[in-house]
Amino acid sequence: MSQERWSEVDVFIEERLLDPDPLLDEVLAASAQAGLPAIALTPAHARYMHLLARVHGARSILELGTLGGYSTIWLGRALPSDGRLVSLELNPRYAELASANIERAGLAGLIKIIVGPALDSLRALIAEGTDPFDFIFIDADKENTPEYFQSALELSRPGTVIVTDNVVRDGAIVDADSQDPRAQGMRRFHELLGADRLGPRRVSATTIQTVGAKGYDGFTLALVER
Ligand code: DHB
Ligand code: MG
Repeated sequence: MSQERWSEVDVFIEERLLDPDPLLDEVLAASAQAGLPAIALTPAHARYMHLLARVHGARSILELGTLGGYSTIWLGRALPSDGRLVSLELNPRYAELASANIERAGLAGLIKIIVGPALDSLRALIAEGTDPFDFIFIDADKENTPEYFQSALELSRPGTVIVTDNVVRDGAIVDADSQDPRAQGMRRFHELLGADRLGPRRVSATTIQTVGAKGYDGFTLALVER
C-alpha cells in the first residue's frame, strides 16, 4: 500500500464524514502562509481527538504543542461552555498565530496558550497546584515525550486520558540503534510504559498504528488508573 493510496482514502473520508469548515480551512491556510511546518493533525484524526474528548466528557484539556491552533480549536470545540483548555507552545510566532486563529474561532474565552519550553510550563503548572486535567494531548517535540508524559501524570487524576501523538515514526520505534532522536524518544516512552506495567501500575495503555495523509505513524492512549 502506498502513500498516494493512504492520502486518497483520507480525502474519501473527509468528503463524506467531515462537515465543510471554512474557518478551519483558513486556519490551515494561514499556518501554511506563515511558514509553519505542515504537521497539524489531519482533519479525520483531529475529529477523532474531538470525539474522544467528548466521549470522555472532558471539561478540562491540556495540550502540548499548539502549532497554529488547528488541533487546539478541534479540542476546544469538544468542551462545554465553562470548560478550559491550556495549550503549551515553544515558538512565540506560532503561539501568536494560534491565538489569532482561536480568537477567530470564538474560543478565546476557553483557551489559554502558555509560551515557552513545555517542561518549564509543566513545572510551573504543577508548582501552582493546578487542578488535574481530564484529558491531555502530548504532541510537542518528540525527544522529550517521556518527560512530558511523566509531568502529565502529575497533572492527572484517576480517569484522566492521555493521548500521545507520533509514537510509531514510520516504524522506527523498533530500531534500537535508530539515529533519529525522535524515534529514540518514542522508544523511551514505550519503555516507560512497559516499566509502569510492572507496577505499581499508574496507567493502562495501548498504541495504535495509523496510516493516512501524514504517512505511517501512531498514537498511544493511556488511562490513568491511580
Ligand atoms: C512531526 C510532528 C508532529 O506532531 C507530527 O504529527 C508529524 C511530524 C515532526 O516534527 O516531524
Ligand atoms: Mg503530531
